[in-house]
Amino acid sequence: MVLIGLYGAVDDEQGLRVLGHALARGVTMIDTADGYGEDGANERLVGRALVGHREDAVVATKFGIAAPGAPHARRVTHTYRHEIWIDGRPERAREAAEASLRRLGIDVIDLYYLHFPDPGVPVEESVGGMAELVHAGKVRHLGLSNLTGEQLRRAAAVHPIAAVQAEYSLWTRGVEEDLLPAAREVGAGLVAWSPLGSGFLAGRPDLGADDFRHNSPRFEGENLERNVDRFAPLRALADEIAVTPAQLALAWLLHQGDDIVPIPGTRSVEHLDANLAAAEVHLSREALARIEEVAPADLAAGRSLLG
Ligand SMILES: NC(=O)c1ccc[n+]([C@@H]2O[C@H](COP(=O)([O-])OP(=O)(O)OC[C@H]3O[C@@H](n4cnc5c(N)ncnc54)[C@H](OP(=O)(O)O)[C@@H]3O)[C@@H](O)[C@H]2O)c1
Repeated sequence: MVLIGLYGAVDDEQGLRVLGHALARGVTMIDTADGYGEDGANERLVGRALVGHREDAVVATKFGIAAPGAPHARRVTHTYRHEIWIDGRPERAREAAEASLRRLGIDVIDLYYLHFPDPGVPVEESVGGMAELVHAGKVRHLGLSNLTGEQLRRAAAVHPIAAVQAEYSLWTRGVEEDLLPAAREVGAGLVAWSPLGSGFLAGRPDLGADDFRHNSPRFEGENLERNVDRFAPLRALADEIAVTPAQLALAWLLHQGDDIVPIPGTRSVEHLDANLAAAEVHLSREALARIEEVAPADLAAGRSLLG
């Protein structure tokens, strides 16, 4: 998602460099969506990176995001200043998967998510449509994103759900109460989006005028200053453990269970290499307890992006 410039400028050449480096370094999970960029631009970029490397990657993409006010689409979330419209009808799943396959230049999608549940379509119906894609050999595994535990249980009764995707990090831990227990119940992995708190947990980001993070109350004025103060002890703890704050945030997620898969975004080969090193960080029981102490679940000031 960051390769379309939502969090600062980036061009395709740089995006391809980062994707190529990720695949060369053994990164397997590549996360995209038909809603990232104009006309599926991010899927096209991923498709270019996959040429000659298809077997190295688990390609995950999503469908459902529609233009505001589009026919058959409904507004799902009003996230502060950003509206999300979704079309989760089974027929949309079929059309969208074909278009994603074309843009990605592949003949099967490894993991196919509904980006948000559609408030006008029961999740069972959306998943029923997605399941047909599995039966037709267009998709290998099904996923759902930004849903509740109850919606997941209903969906999993229709077809196995391999993964759910939700915001999860040291500053957004809502999944621990509802979605994560349900995922463990139905055997779905949890893919943690914005695992670096949209960059905040890596260090205070410098936001340009059109940066998407202006939609999040946590990056705004007093909240941002409060968050910088509140998370200072976590940054100090990272120093003490001799890791970077970003590595601490990713290592903490990796210590929450083998079923948690963080998908950090970056436009930078250097950041990618630094983030990969987090997979080698061992956090002792004592370190995990200290993290809990300095960064309790409700530490952040301001609502998260999806409230
Ligand atoms: N399902 C959904 O609804 C949903 C929603 C949001 C995101 N996602 C997925 O989750 C992915 C990750 O989430 P995200 O991009 O929102 O947030 P994130 O991974 O928490 O943070 C990305 C930001 O962190 C910065 N960063 C990364 N590594 C760094 C490092 N080592 N040092 C300093 N800064 C660093 C990046 O800047 P640089 O580019 O400068 O490195 C970027 O601005 C997205 O790309 C997307 O695929 C899914």
